[in-house]
Amino acid sequence: MHATAVAHPNIALVKYWGKADESRNLPAVGSISITLDTLVTTTSVRFDPALGEDRFTLDGRPAPDQLERVRACLDLFRARLPGVPHAEVASVNSFPTAAGLASSASGFAALVVAVDRALEAGLDRAELAELARQCSGSAARSIFGGFVELRLRPDGSGCDTGQIRAAADWPLQVVVAITSAEAKAIGSTAGMLHTERTSPYYPAWLATSKTDLAAARQAVEDRDFAALAAVSEHSCLKMHAVAFAARPGLLYWNGATVECIRRLRELASAGVGVFFTVDAGPQVKAICLPEAGDRVADALAELPGVAKVLRCGLGEGARVVGV
Ligand code: DP6
Repeated sequence: MHATAVAHPNIALVKYWGKADESRNLPAVGSISITLDTLVTTTSVRFDPALGEDRFTLDGRPAPDQLERVRACLDLFRARLPGVPHAEVASVNSFPTAAGLASSASGFAALVVAVDRALEAGLDRAELAELARQCSGSAARSIFGGFVELRLRPDGSGCDTGQIRAAADWPLQVVVAITSAEAKAIGSTAGMLHTERTSPYYPAWLATSKTDLAAARQAVEDRDFAALAAVSEHSCLKMHAVAFAARPGLLYWNGATVECIRRLRELASAGVGVFFTVDAGPQVKAICLPEAGDRVADALAELPGVAKVLRCGLGEGARVVGV
């Protein structure tokens, strides 16, 4: 009754921001992402009837503030398979946690895959994605590799998540500029709920989502980098604009975030194949054509306020690595 799985963070190009139903963690909009390769979460789970309670460690230390979410994830399996005992879960990230690098996405994707194997539940990838989605919306996408779309079912019963193009089909590169390693002040769950309740732009955000998804899907299908760049930057800036307009406004960026965006725009104007995206934190992710990766990484590394630059390609979905 034990297993170890790995999963990678993903970066949304068309963003998820807002919930249609908080109790079921149902997103208000679909999303399209790329799964990374070099950043990795490794999660081991061991079920043991002798344990008096569920336990969770993150990077080797007990993480009481995360235990509730981990337990809720285990309980999704317990609801399907009665009699599942308590578990010890140990998760290790190869990158800074809670700094806008989607550690909850890789964390819950790795967890559901490890638990499925440990319990020999035999769920398929679509079912694993639905369980991961209930733990953290973006986690559904890390079940799959390459380019991934999470679609809302029209009847409101849940989501269908799947790969729209394999990583090897269009091997884009990603340069992550780390501008701060501190945990963000307002997590994405709280930030999106606050935005829904108080931002006057939220209805416009919802109303324009389907157009963005269709444009990005088409751009991925056509491997049209310019079209993907345009819709991705639009979705990113629109997500931050709707959050800026909340009351009080949410500002996830720092000065270096803005400097990175400006530099990437200069490079793109000079013909370099690059565009940016930013999630609920200050890090900037530069998506590059393969030949542009080195130049973009050098340009970001020399900006004041950029502490570190990480390089990734596109990677595979969550998978078992040990039993
Ligand atoms: C800005 O998946 O962390 O990264 O479902 O509440 O856990 P919960 O939210 P989460 O939100 C991710 C928000 C985002 C955009 C995205 O990844 O699509």
